[in-house]
Amino acid sequence: MNLDEERFRIFLEAAWPRPADIAEEIRREAVRDRVPVIRRSTEDILRVMLAAVKPEAILEVGTAVGFSSVFMCLHSDAHIVTVENYKKRIPEALRNFERAGITERVRLIEGDAAEVLPTLEKPFDLVFLDAAKGQYIRLLPDLIRLTAPGGILIADNILLDGEVTDSRYAGERRNRTIHRRMREFVEAVLKHPELETAILQAGDGLSVSVRKTEGLISGSSGFEKEKKWASEKENRSC
Ligand SMILES: C[S@@+](CC[C@H](N)C(=O)[O-])C[C@H]1O[C@@H](n2cnc3c(N)ncnc32)[C@H](O)[C@@H]1O
Repeated sequence: MNLDEERFRIFLEAAWPRPADIAEEIRREAVRDRVPVIRRSTEDILRVMLAAVKPEAILEVGTAVGFSSVFMCLHSDAHIVTVENYKKRIPEALRNFERAGITERVRLIEGDAAEVLPTLEKPFDLVFLDAAKGQYIRLLPDLIRLTAPGGILIADNILLDGEVTDSRYAGERRNRTIHRRMREFVEAVLKHPELETAILQAGDGLSVSVRKTEGLISGSSGFEKEKKWASEKENRSC
């Protein structure tokens, strides 16, 4: 199918106008100020995932000015830990959390995800990766560790405007490195034994993975699941 993206967007917006809420206001301001935010299709997939998973705890890597954190808070009851390393954006993100009335539910950690993630221990029901594209592969082991069994790991922009599928000799040298690393990431999430993954062409490309649930007891929260899973695993190895 070769459906024009713009026509698709117009069709969708006519079929379902977005609610005029605080998230929309923050999105509009971010777009005006050229701050990157998730695309509509990523928004839609997150919204559906949030409704299905009902996460209690979310980890986000790449806050920018907080649009996607606000969006995820508005569409769930979750608490969010979000990581950002660009100092200039942090005060604005914090202001946006206040405007949206979600300061109690969001903890913004300032720093490089490569340094912050190893310090986190509790697993999350949903992990959303939307940071520097060349770093995805390096962050992956910690992200998998931090995704609760049964939890979801979503990575945005994995197709890099389609360039990830180009020949490995195309483009500038710097971009070639980013493309190679992203290809490694895509292969890793598809082949990882603990993940079940789909690569979606929506927006700029998304990977959606479930961390497999060996020994999972249904009906428990993410943290409870991890505890039960860990203790069962311990018992099994006795
Ligand atoms: C695409 S923007 C995030 C957009 C945001 N998720 C939204 O939709 O509102 C990516 C952000 O990740 C941050 N970032 C990139 N690499 C990072 C890293 N290694 N650690 C923490 N933040 C990082 C950038 O500074 C940038 O603000």
